[in-house]
Amino acid sequence: MDAFTFHNPTRIHFGAGMIRFLGKELKDISISRCLMIAGGGSIKHNGVYDQVCQTLASHDIKWTEGWGVVPNPILDKVRDLITLARQDKVEAIVAVGGGSVIDTAKAVAAGIFLDDVWTAFTRKEQIQQALPLFTVLTLSATGSEMNGNAVITHQELRHKSAIYSPLLYPRVSIIDPTVQSSLPFHQTVNGALDAIAHILEYYFVDEQPVVTLGIDDALQRTIVAMTDRLKIDPADVNARSNLAWSATLALNGISGIGLKGGDWACHQIEHAISAVYPKVAHGEGLGVIFPTWIEYLAEREPARFARWSLNVWGESRPEVAVKRFREKICSWDSAGCLRDLGVKDKDLPLIIDLIMQSSSIGAFSKFRRSDVEALLLLAY
Ligand code: NZQ
Ligand code: ZN
Repeated sequence: MDAFTFHNPTRIHFGAGMIRFLGKELKDISISRCLMIAGGGSIKHNGVYDQVCQTLASHDIKWTEGWGVVPNPILDKVRDLITLARQDKVEAIVAVGGGSVIDTAKAVAAGIFLDDVWTAFTRKEQIQQALPLFTVLTLSATGSEMNGNAVITHQELRHKSAIYSPLLYPRVSIIDPTVQSSLPFHQTVNGALDAIAHILEYYFVDEQPVVTLGIDDALQRTIVAMTDRLKIDPADVNARSNLAWSATLALNGISGIGLKGGDWACHQIEHAISAVYPKVAHGEGLGVIFPTWIEYLAEREPARFARWSLNVWGESRPEVAVKRFREKICSWDSAGCLRDLGVKDKDLPLIIDLIMQSSSIGAFSKFRRSDVEALLLLAY
């Protein structure tokens, strides 16, 4: 197993009713004014907004509200919110929502100290400073509540790009799984598929870190079983809780320890798809791309996929395990191919061009243009 350094500075408050700790957490570092960032309004319908306002008000914390973050969040919104944060001289950012809201909040927290926030995404400037970030998670999927990543789309360039900085880890994140009962089942599934994909991005890279792979087996099986339960009963709190914590562990560093940083080809490919089709949810896109990627590579290297087939799907042959994976996704009414996602074949060349803008695609198996083309055709 390779040498590694692990440090995750985010404090987690997990469980029903834990949003009440938010105000004290801000007060403890002497914050008196913050910017609350939110999406399209789901938090007004499920009681989260009221809980956040109550805990802030009861700790004498003033706030400005920045609404309207969309799924697959965009740079223009980040810029508007940076202007608002500067105008109101806020001392912290509070993100209330799913990954899109949290990622936007991270870009604002760092962007306030940059002349142009996009330069952090193009690597022209380094993130040197960021406002303290607090999150109230309402959709378990991305792990953004406990990692240092943010993914934002530049609409004109059709470029969905990621930043990472140790300064972008939330200081505190609150995960109350009960507030996720208001999610439509398809959003729960999008989250589950994204979390599974995060584990899979690491999983096939190396066989040595047996302990990490054991955790990853358990996480995948748990995510599948809990999603099945939530299909029957969206208010199953134990299933919500186990799914939520699994999704956090899937991308907070734990699932990748010793796995050389992972592969990430499927994420690169999916990001190009949702850059061209912003209505495609990240998790649903991955539910199409990942089984296809495994199918494509398992033909060449079946042994690499043997452990996953057996430990996650109880199958000795990878092609049968992929079939089971796809059947599961289909049983959750999620897309099975690019056509189901609404992708037009005339747009495939553009998507391929966008993917090929990256300096390299994948890690343990580096994809050339011909591989990307073959994979997208297989996924179509
Ligand atoms: O906008 P609101 O009204 O909040 O509604 C949202 C949104 O429409 C809704 N929702 C969230 N919580 C809800 C709820 N509806 C009812 N009840 C609740 N409790 O769900 C919809 C989707 O939300 P979104 O935040 O877009 O979903 P998700 O958390 O899956 O985030 C996806 C974004 O994160 C990026 C993706 O690329 C995508 O842009 N990623 C971020 C990563 C990271 N920061 O580490 C890694 C990932 O691989 C991923 O790339
Ligand atoms: Zn993802």
